[in-house]
Amino acid sequence: MGRGLSVVTLFVSFMVFAARTLAADSTQAEAGAMIYDSYCASCHGVELNNTAPGVTFDLRRLRTDEHPRFVSSVLNGKNQMPPWRGVLEMEQVEALWAYIRATVDR
Ligand code: HEC
Repeated sequence: MGRGLSVVTLFVSFMVFAARTLAADSTQAEAGAMIYDSYCASCHGVELNNTAPGVTFDLRRLRTDEHPRFVSSVLNGKNQMPPWRGVLEMEQVEALWAYIRATVDR
């Protein structure tokens, strides 16, 4: 067994890992899109296209480092927005975030 083989093995394992991670991400984003349609689109606009600027918040403005703010606002609500704690599972909130990121960062 040469050193070359272990490098190949390492590379192949990495590719398998990367492919799985990507697949998981897109499934999560798709789930998020459906949750968004059911719970958020009525106020925040179809497919994140905010049609009431100044009234609701344009979710496309959330930056990658605003995940904590997102989670906290969604769970606790903000002014006219109802809290979603007890309505959405944490997993669904993360799926919504994955959907926003997949839409904004592509
Ligand atoms: C009844 C209408 C309504 C629905 C439904 C709604 N929102 Fe909102 N949302 C608002 C309004 C209004 C604001 C602006 C609040 C403010 O800043 O005064 C807002 C703000 C936000 C913000 C930004 C809060 C901040 O930190 O400034 C996030 C994130 C958000 N909504 C996510 C969601 C998600 C995710 C859903 C679906 C689960 C959702 N909203 C459903 C009305 C709604």
